[in-house]
Amino acid sequence: MSSLYTYFENLFKEVYTLPSIIVTVSIAVFIAYLQELKDEREREQKKKEDNASNEHDDKESEESEKQEGSEDPAPKRKAFALPSTPLPPPNTTRIFMSDELAEHDGTQEDKGIYVAIKGIVFDVSTKKEMYGPKGGYHCFAGKDASKALGMSSLNVEDCVADYSGLNEKEKKTLDDWFSFFEKRYPIVGKTEA
Ligand code: HEM
Repeated sequence: MSSLYTYFENLFKEVYTLPSIIVTVSIAVFIAYLQELKDEREREQKKKEDNASNEHDDKESEESEKQEGSEDPAPKRKAFALPSTPLPPPNTTRIFMSDELAEHDGTQEDKGIYVAIKGIVFDVSTKKEMYGPKGGYHCFAGKDASKALGMSSLNVEDCVADYSGLNEKEKKTLDDWFSFFEKRYPIVGKTEA
């Protein structure tokens, strides 16, 4: 009697549990497969987005950015983007005395904001949010800030024209900033020699 019971019990287990295990495992595998597909798609999407933003930040692609944003009347410039319109020819005939340059620190609404590098005065008025009184780079405004730019310093006492104390690496940094400004901001004059 007991062997008959065991026989039926085993038969029941086989019939009942095996298919249910198979079904459960199949569902789990299917869900995992769907999840993997979804992850794969998200990874590809992210890769595409990263590539797109890298292209913008890449200095090599700066030239192509000139062509962008022509339909938007006031396109928001991306960080480090080049101006969408060509710069006016440089004016190097106007000579700024330091007190005159200081008037262009953004505190006077009717005057442009100027930053000088290596004696060349750039009009950075388009970036008031950066060089104006509330800007993080206001310390450079209205003066020749060559030394600070070379040192990557925001200390007011470093914002001076004399950069003779910079080492080679800092001089290279300064030259890089000069080219950065040269490509982005109109040259409006020179500082007194
Ligand atoms: C935690 C440190 C810093 C961060 C996160 C930072 C971030 C940035 C960002 C995002 C921009 C681009 C903004 C834009 O074009 O809209 C920028 C521009 C700039 N940064 Fe910094 N910066 C830092 C420190 C410094 C320091 C120490 C200097 C000192 C030389 C400096 C000098 C500049 C200058 C001159 C620009 C160019 C602004 C322009 O005319 O477009 N930055 N920075």
